[in-house]
Amino acid sequence: CGIVGYTGFQDAYDIVINGLRRLEYRGYDSAGIVLENTANSFSVEKTKGKVDDLVNISNNLKGTAKIGMGHTRWATHGVPSDRNSHPHVSNNGKIAIVHNGIIENYDTIKTMLIEKGFSFKSETDTEVLVNLIQYFITDLNSETDFPTAVRYALNEVYGAYAITVMHEDYPGLLVVARLGSPLAIGIGEKEYFIASDASPFVEFTKEAIYLEEGHMATISLEDGVDIRTIQDNSKIIPEIQELKLSLEQIEKGGFEHFMLKEIFEQPKSIHDTMRGRLIVNEGVIKMAGIWDHVERFKNANRIIIIACGTSWHAGLIGEYLIEEFARIPVEVEYASEFRYRNPIITDKDVVIAISQSGETADTMAALKLAKEKGAFIYGICNVVDSSIARITDAGSYTHAGPEIGVASTKAFTAQLTILSLIALKLGKHNGNLGNAEFMSLISELDAIPKKIEEVLEGTHELTQNIAKDFINATNFLYLGRGYNYPAALEGALKLKEISYIHAEGYPAAEMKHGPIALIDENMPIVIIAPKKGHYDKIVSNVQEIKARKGKVIAVVNKGDTQVSSMADYVIEIPETSECFSPIVASVPLQLLAYYIAVYRGANVDQPRNLAKSVTVE
Ligand code: G6P
Repeated sequence: CGIVGYTGFQDAYDIVINGLRRLEYRGYDSAGIVLENTANSFSVEKTKGKVDDLVNISNNLKGTAKIGMGHTRWATHGVPSDRNSHPHVSNNGKIAIVHNGIIENYDTIKTMLIEKGFSFKSETDTEVLVNLIQYFITDLNSETDFPTAVRYALNEVYGAYAITVMHEDYPGLLVVARLGSPLAIGIGEKEYFIASDASPFVEFTKEAIYLEEGHMATISLEDGVDIRTIQDNSKIIPEIQELKLSLEQIEKGGFEHFMLKEIFEQPKSIHDTMRGRLIVNEGVIKMAGIWDHVERFKNANRIIIIACGTSWHAGLIGEYLIEEFARIPVEVEYASEFRYRNPIITDKDVVIAISQSGETADTMAALKLAKEKGAFIYGICNVVDSSIARITDAGSYTHAGPEIGVASTKAFTAQLTILSLIALKLGKHNGNLGNAEFMSLISELDAIPKKIEEVLEGTHELTQNIAKDFINATNFLYLGRGYNYPAALEGALKLKEISYIHAEGYPAAEMKHGPIALIDENMPIVIIAPKKGHYDKIVSNVQEIKARKGKVIAVVNKGDTQVSSMADYVIEIPETSECFSPIVASVPLQLLAYYIAVYRGANVDQPRNLAKSVTVE
């Protein structure tokens, strides 16, 4: 979910609505706004649907207030509906809240509040929290002031949250708090902003405070920002950070969708990921995060990679890379499974978390578990200063720039780039990778951005044409071997996420053990078949598919003849080392998924039911 708040001299309606649009990628099944007008009373509007739907019903609020807050939601408790949308207001109508996260013990608290005479309009955990705040003010002790009541209430709940709360009797005051979900406070000249990330306010100020775990703040024009610990109200002196984000980085720049823009940014984003790290003419890879702890890696019993979604696919390729070059055993786990299965972790393990957002709740929780058990924890995150980046012992940022499209593209290829650098660096250091091989691999890696440019140029139109033939497909199979098996999983995930066509990725050889039963003339099969890496075996797989009349879309190297002669559609990509081929092969698969979704009329940047960063477990 996304939160925006504002107090200052500008129109709060505009700031909140525009801010919500920037955060819509975080969740978009409902949206709402609350403004405090000059008579110190609240106007609340909320609805199921997108920020545009909210604007349709709330336009009359424009110009009525200088303070307010809004929310765009990704449903956890309660279906997306007007009733379940935020803001939620307390029983006495005086307190309004927007909340991102989950209150896990809401049920017990709700029962207690119902016994005390409270009633509830929604099924949400958030409405429980706002009434608990009211309870501390009105029922328990009339002396309790509003910020203190928020603090008391937060000490009663467990779960994850970022909240912003307003009270009609406390005009001009915003109370915010964070535990597990991010919240940034933008500091302008005579104005303050609140948001789940800095994108809603970068155009107004470059100064921000990232609220830390377990902290809350009161924000008003009169008294500024006062930060305290939730637990015992100790005062905190905040660190004000200079934002590096620019406005054009978070705008579409002429592309129809963020996703397309991000696909096209890949030559640059991969280059940015390698910048300052890969120095080909000196024959070195410089990565402080790895180098400072290189013995820890070298002596590790094993490396465990934990991640979710696309980042997990990057992790699988990371396993191939690190095992091949550094010869350290690697396991890759879904963060959500890892943390709940009592895994064996020792202080000889290195745990690497991969996360674009750096906020994924399951990944975060798995890391905490690994840390508790003494493992060395390393982060590969895209978002600078994100929660995961901050709790890890060391890490490497991917530097792909903000990724807004919900379906991850440039963050994925940047993750693969970082993992390649790590594997090669460790391989060299461990002595497993000879100098000549190392040199040839790093020059190959250095050439990847150029090759991606070629791919974009050579396949952009082609993928559109292919896409047109498959807009009515109901199933897709993606096959690959070796390094390109995870690339097949990722290709299938992209299609599934944005076009809602069912798609499955499989190791090509496993086709015989099940998926082959599905193959007939209606089954499109995307097969990744670069020259290096089990090519002959793939040729047999294609023959098996064609014998059953499946429709083959083959991703092959330029000049390929064998697979190409059998395939129904051929997508050519430049040749590269096998270990880097998923980076190159992923790009046309992203384009294919994108265009199929666009032609089906789907909202590619905000696919239904998904969210960019899943800050609930
Ligand atoms: C969500 C997103 C995916 C992403 C996954 C992991 O499901 O929709 O695109 O791969 O979370 O996110 P992370 O930020 O940890 O990489």
